[in-house]
Amino acid sequence: MASCCPCPFSGRRSLLLLLLLRVCLAREAAATTSHLSGYFGTKSRYEEVNQHLLRDPLSLGPPEPGHLLPSAACVPLQLRALIRHGTRFPTEKQIRKLGQLHRLLRGQARACPAAQQLARWDMWYQPDMDGRLAPKGRLDMERLARRLAARFPGLLAPQRRFAFASSSKHRCVESSGAFRRGLHLALHSQLPAADIENEKTEINDKLMRFFDYCEKFVTCVEENTTAMYQVDAFKEGPEMKRVLEKIAATLCLPVSDLNADLVQVAFFTCSSELSIKNVNSPWCSLFSDDDAKVLEYLNDLKQYWKRGYGYDINSRSSCILFQDIFKHLDKAIAESKSSMPISSPVILQFGHAETLQPLLALMGFFKDEEPLTANNYKKQMHRKFRSGHIVPYASNLIFVLYHCDHAKTPEEEYQVQILLNEKLLPFLHSEETVSLYTDLKNHYKDILQNCHFKEECELSKTNTTSTDEL
Ligand SMILES: *[C@@H]1O[C@H](CO)[C@@H](O)[C@H](O)[C@H]1NC(C)=O
Ligand SMILES: *[C@@H]1O[C@H](CO)[C@@H](O)[C@H](O)[C@H]1NC(C)=O
Repeated sequence: MASCCPCPFSGRRSLLLLLLLRVCLAREAAATTSHLSGYFGTKSRYEEVNQHLLRDPLSLGPPEPGHLLPSAACVPLQLRALIRHGTRFPTEKQIRKLGQLHRLLRGQARACPAAQQLARWDMWYQPDMDGRLAPKGRLDMERLARRLAARFPGLLAPQRRFAFASSSKHRCVESSGAFRRGLHLALHSQLPAADIENEKTEINDKLMRFFDYCEKFVTCVEENTTAMYQVDAFKEGPEMKRVLEKIAATLCLPVSDLNADLVQVAFFTCSSELSIKNVNSPWCSLFSDDDAKVLEYLNDLKQYWKRGYGYDINSRSSCILFQDIFKHLDKAIAESKSSMPISSPVILQFGHAETLQPLLALMGFFKDEEPLTANNYKKQMHRKFRSGHIVPYASNLIFVLYHCDHAKTPEEEYQVQILLNEKLLPFLHSEETVSLYTDLKNHYKDILQNCHFKEECELSKTNTTSTDEL
């Protein structure tokens, strides 16, 4: 699409323009891949998990094994989507670290080609971009909306009631606006009035940022300086040391000038330039595939201990969201049974990787037999827990409830499917991609009945000793 073209010539009419445009598009096509792009973890582009989108951003991709209802007999009643915001700018903290690294390289006096090339690189990130949604992030959302409307035309239809909710973070509210715009485009085939993006999106941090409200999580994990000891140990470990030494040599710097955080910032800059500007930046040439795998593991380790299976409270704190999903599914079924219109047929909620990852862990997805630790990097080479595959930018987890006619038993009348990043996610209790709603509820009955946010998140009165239970 010409609109993403990084060349600055749009708008002028001439033959030259056509030629330039061609060069531009060729450059863009060539730049859309990097040998490192599979290793960016939570900073991965959505296109990494759906490569067909690199060719056609509105395509629904090749047909999948396992079939997507709706069939003639099954009609979708309710769709609940949990959506991570689209591609964003780096946070202020990352931008400051990058500034620090860039200054270090500019101050480098020795003749060193790699360092000089990076010193000449234009440091265009400003601290006030702080984690905001990037223009590409708006596109991520618009296009996701259009694809979902194409996939579920019966549900995402004009005149439907859409319930939008978002985390209070700017990038999530903006994502919800961009999604709304894409949805309008899909349903009405015309551009919406400018104010459509500001229509009522409910801010709901209790559901989208449950982790902030969970005292036990905040105290025992988030603000606990020793909770990330596996991550810290890996930063000092042999794999990371090898990467540091290599990068220091390339940049003609003493290894003592670098640390894991600075190298990680260089790696993230490579990913940002690719995901935001669609260019293969000189920062990428610092890293080999093997380096990238080490840095991906570092990112995954942090996700694992802070948002995944590392500590039970990470996932238990999401049971408030999990239960809300089932509450609305139950309500839709009750309404359907009494032949009432479904009050919330489409629920669209915008949050963070930190919203999706704990929920997926609560449900038991992507769990490896052994924990990810500082010293089992090699053993975890083929791990399931790879955040780049699970929660890239714009990642989405969708629950679809169906009503099926001609059911032989009352249980068969209501069925569910789950899609992660627009692909059917097989249920853990059956390995099938469709489940009777009663079977799904039965599988998760312990969480549904016994996980109470308030109790789970309460810091036990018996001070520090109780946190050992983590
Ligand atoms: C911090 O984390 C460590 C490691 O999990 C744990 O042993 C300790 O009890 C935690 N401290 C607090 C205050 O939660
Ligand atoms: C918790 O610890 C603090 C200081 O360590 C102590 O003063 C307080 O009495 C303790 N509270 C309980 C309920 O044990």
